[in-house]
Amino acid sequence: MRSLLYVLFALLASVTAQKLEKINTIADTVGKVYHYQPEQVHLAFGDNLADIVVTWSTRDATNQSVVLYGENYSDAKSLVNVTGNARIFVDGGKKKHAQYIHKVTLRDLKPQTRYEYSCGSDLGWSARFSFTTPPAGSDWQPSLAIFGDMGNENAQSLARLQQDTQQGMYDAIIHVGDFAYDMDTENARVGDEFMRQVETIAAYVPYMVCPGNHEEKYNFSNYKTRFNMPGERDSLWYSFDLGPVHFVSFSTEVYYFLQYGFKLLTKQFEWLENDLREANKPENRAERPWIITYGHRPMYCSDEKEYDCNEKLETFIRQGLPLVKWFGLEDLFYKNGVDVEIFAHEHFYTRLWPIYDFKVYNGSTAAPYTNPKAPIQIITGSAGCKEEREPFSETLPAWNAYHSNDYGYTRMKAHNRTHLYFEQVSDDKNGEIVDSFWIIKDKNVAYNEL
Ligand SMILES: *[C@@H]1O[C@H](CO)[C@@H](O)[C@H](O)[C@H]1NC(C)=O
Ligand SMILES: *[C@@H]1O[C@H](CO)[C@@H](O)[C@H](O)[C@H]1NC(C)=O
Ligand SMILES: *[C@@H]1O[C@H](CO)[C@@H](O)[C@H](O)[C@H]1NC(C)=O
Ligand SMILES: *[C@@H]1O[C@H](CO)[C@@H](O)[C@H](O)[C@H]1NC(C)=O
Ligand SMILES: *[C@@H]1O[C@H](CO)[C@@H](O)[C@H](O)[C@H]1NC(C)=O
Ligand SMILES: *[C@@H]1O[C@H](CO)[C@@H](O)[C@H](O)[C@H]1NC(C)=O
Ligand SMILES: [Fe+2]
Repeated sequence: MRSLLYVLFALLASVTAQKLEKINTIADTVGKVYHYQPEQVHLAFGDNLADIVVTWSTRDATNQSVVLYGENYSDAKSLVNVTGNARIFVDGGKKKHAQYIHKVTLRDLKPQTRYEYSCGSDLGWSARFSFTTPPAGSDWQPSLAIFGDMGNENAQSLARLQQDTQQGMYDAIIHVGDFAYDMDTENARVGDEFMRQVETIAAYVPYMVCPGNHEEKYNFSNYKTRFNMPGERDSLWYSFDLGPVHFVSFSTEVYYFLQYGFKLLTKQFEWLENDLREANKPENRAERPWIITYGHRPMYCSDEKEYDCNEKLETFIRQGLPLVKWFGLEDLFYKNGVDVEIFAHEHFYTRLWPIYDFKVYNGSTAAPYTNPKAPIQIITGSAGCKEEREPFSETLPAWNAYHSNDYGYTRMKAHNRTHLYFEQVSDDKNGEIVDSFWIIKDKNVAYNEL
């Protein structure tokens, strides 16, 4: 009986092999395969929350960039057809691989509405995706996932983030720099693979980003071309409002890669000054009392190995350029009453007590985060990447409130204008919340005016 099975199995295997051979021969004779099919689909907020930008790639040029969308994709007649544009992106690597990155902006969408869409051209369409627009105004509770340093290899938090997203947990994602490891690697094929890996997240909720050191190659071209953030195209900084929060995204890398232009550093600093001044106008701060910044490299960290944020060394981000101390961000953020500063780069999670110039400024010892007297900083760079975890210093500084080496990510919910909630998800501990805290405040002024 058993030998009969073996014979049958062998027969089946040989038939399959022959079939496969035939298929290969056919494919060879068909000639060039065209890559018109949309891939790497992802969303971002446009210049206001009623606009959503859809971005995707095709390997070959298509003759249009179209998004078809509506509240019911099965009702063909109700669908809106919006065209955008594509630009060719030639990777800086040896092979000069080209791809076409398509960008379409869906404008004046209705608030709090679920839309279904697909993107492509006459030559090929994506599957149908969906997203829900945020409520109008600032009186609602945005919920976000926030993390940095997620690669292709060892992206340990990815599956959990995909599930969370598909269950509708988030209004937006913030990826605080360092993607793919690295997007330019293997003639940018690593970047393509990363964008495909995050599609289950990024095609459904706005995937908001800032640049990290791993994006540096070819003047950040992979970062600038693949992501379409609000504001000027190819900019390394922008801001957006979500509920009672004003989010500010900036590049810490303009302080380090000066070969791309000192001008970028000065322009960003000027832009930050203006953006924070605007956010602090009494009518704006009353409506959106929370100001949260995110940039890749931290001002403080307790990683003994780390050359750029060790306690014994000064960071450019915090103090500005060496010796002259120009363009330091700690002062700027402190004077403008920034509530929370989110960083990554270190492959771990750290929460700090309210801090300014190495000194802790608790609201009170019993309730450090109730009316804190300085910004609260978080490092969340443990989503998972091939460079693995980073060890903490053996003796932790007094400003260290909590730290964890687990892979995971941060969740934030803006409860209302006085209460802001954060929690840290451990993927190692199967989704357990290993840290959580509330920031409570009833005054929105610069800390030096408290
Ligand atoms: C796009 O290309 C296809 C195939 O070449 C062609 O049939 C179609 O008419 C083109 N559409 C436009 C709008 O040019
Ligand atoms: C969507 O449109 C299809 C086709 O018109 C219709 O059969 C279906 O009931 C609609 N679904 C909803 C939820 O309205
Ligand atoms: C969308 O509009 C473009 C330009 O008007 C047109 O060429 C294309 O056929 C339309 N596509 C669909 C699916 O309606
Ligand atoms: C790098 O890109 C920026 C735009 O993001 C541009 O302003 C700058 O001139 C570029 N630098 C070099 C050296 O090409
Ligand atoms: C800040 O508050 C925490 C928690 O109560 C406490 O451990 C720490 O010593 C306080 N730091 C200062 C400088 O008051
Ligand atoms: C915010 O929520 C907290 C807790 O639910 C509540 O005590 C507080 O009064 C609320 N603040 C405002 C401004 O509504
Ligand atoms: Fe980094």
